[in-house]
Amino acid sequence: MRLGVLVSGKGSNLRNLVEREFQVVAVATNRPSCGAAAFARERGLPLGEFSQRGYASLEERDTAMRDWLASLGVELLVNAGYDRILSAAFIAAFENRMLNVHPSLLPAFGGGMDAVEQALRQGVTQTGCTVHLVTEEVDAGPILLQAVVPVLPGDSVESLRARIQLEERRILPVAIEMLTRNLAARSSLG
Ligand code: GRF
Repeated sequence: MRLGVLVSGKGSNLRNLVEREFQVVAVATNRPSCGAAAFARERGLPLGEFSQRGYASLEERDTAMRDWLASLGVELLVNAGYDRILSAAFIAAFENRMLNVHPSLLPAFGGGMDAVEQALRQGVTQTGCTVHLVTEEVDAGPILLQAVVPVLPGDSVESLRARIQLEERRILPVAIEMLTRNLAARSSLG
């Protein structure tokens, strides 16, 4: 399966997929200076840079990004820390073929960038991560896999995030394999 990966952050999930020898054929970012983009350059992965300031609207940027991903033959797209809302047309273009990894047990702490902070603030004793299909409603698509992570006494945002990301690195590859099998089964059904 030819994977595309959308990134804006450090790139721990991207690095993990590359190290596990997934076929990453395209990395697209809205933040060319992020760690994930630096990793893509270092590894010689095709990197698409789509800063919003280069486009008149979100829709225009997403159209350019969609066309670039399609030109590289991306079959399955992983949203691994991409920090912008995607346009409806972009999401429709990858319907049932785009995964997101979110650092909480959805539907808890969805819809924002501060899921780890919220878990600590609320005093939950367990949180975790979720891999789900991307639909138009943010963080609300069908769930493929989740992993539970304990919140430990004395946890900081950093320590809890690190524990959650260990689980993300475990379940995201499994979810990609699940979806790959599912798409293959569907296409053989014609
Ligand atoms: C991950 O924690 C993911 O859950 C969230 O963004 C973070 C990306 O981390 N959506 P990285 O860039 O893969 O290190």
